[in-house]
Parts: sequence; structure tokens; C-alpha cells
Amino acid sequence: MLKKININDLKQSATKLIGKDWMLVTAGNTESCNTMTASWGGLGELWNRPVAFIFVRPTRYTYEFIERENFFTLSFFEEKHRKTLQLCGTISGRKSDKIAESGLTPVASDNGSVFFQEAKLVLECKKLYFADLNPENFLDQNIEKHYPHKDYHRVYVAEIVNTYAK
Ligand SMILES: Cc1cc2nc3c(=O)[nH]c(=O)nc-3n(C[C@H](O)[C@H](O)[C@H](O)COP(=O)(O)O)c2cc1C
Repeated sequence: MLKKININDLKQSATKLIGKDWMLVTAGNTESCNTMTASWGGLGELWNRPVAFIFVRPTRYTYEFIERENFFTLSFFEEKHRKTLQLCGTISGRKSDKIAESGLTPVASDNGSVFFQEAKLVLECKKLYFADLNPENFLDQNIEKHYPHKDYHRVYVAEIVNTYAK
């Protein structure tokens, strides 16, 4: 059972949470939503608010849902769910109902966004800003190798409006 906590009481570093443990980025409502695994992004402070920033390639099906909605959620899991995160990071929701396949239980927040009951930590985020990465601004030429298909990420900065933890 998840209970509401204060974002400032998070015990784990964002680098470990996002980069090593991975997360599910989910957008939409319980009738129509999609989720994908992400390991790039961060947590911080901007415009005097606690924020999350995530990087989403416009080719992802989840991108369409993030674009459509005002909110998205970041769900973090215990290690036993690693296979589920691998599944959600390799299959596209365009091709199969991967949420059903994952066995995860979608739950609606008060704001109508969707997160997963099995998560150990959920950040509910309200979009504040987006920007598309411009390769002309890459200051290290090694970055370009991440974009053989030129599908440069869109970065979303979003206010963390609710935090739930086990
Ligand atoms: C560990 C891991 C991390 C990933 N991180 C990101 C990410 O930060 N941004 C992104 O756009 N895709 C990322 N992906 C790829 C998407 O999760 C993957 O393409 C997924 O199938 C997209 O699903 P969708 O088309 O249903 O949205 C990652 C995949 C894995 C396995």
C-alpha cells in the first residue's frame, strides 16, 4: 500500500533511482494509457518547485500520451520487477497491450493520471515545459552516437505534485 510522503524525504539518490533501478513513465487515463521504461532523467529544483525531467524520443508511443495529457507519472519498483521493466522497455504499446502482459495493476490518481499499484515509489508530475534537443548544441561529439536515426529526445520538465511511497 502506498502512502503519501514529502518529496524532500526521499532517501535514495535520483541517479540510482532513475539510472540504475529504472522507472516506468506512464501517461493517459485508465481507459487509455501507455507506459515505457526510462533510465535517463533527473530530479531537482526549478522555478522554486520540486521537478522531474525526463527525455522521451518522439518515436515512442508513450510520447503521444505525454503530449496529450497535463500529467504523467514516474513509477519505481523493487528488483523483482526488473523483467517487467525490460518488457516495457522493449515492446511498444503500439504493437501489443503490454500493460496487460506485464501483469501490473493500473491505478487512477485524484488527478486522473495512472500509476501502478506494485510500485514502491510514485511521483505524479504536472508538465511545465518541454524542449527538443538540438544537435547543434551538443558540446561533446560523443553524444551524437546516441541518435543514429536523428530521433532527438524531447525533454519535459514537470512539477512533482504528489509523491507516494511504500
Ligand atoms: C533500461 C531502458 C531505459 C530506457 N530509457 C529510455 C528513455 O529514457 N527515453 C526513451 O525515450 N526511451 C527509453 N527506453 C526505450 C523505451 O522504453 C522503448 O523504446 C519502449 O519500447 C517504448 O515503448 P512505447 O512505444 O510503448 O512508448 C529505454 C529502454 C530501456 C530498456
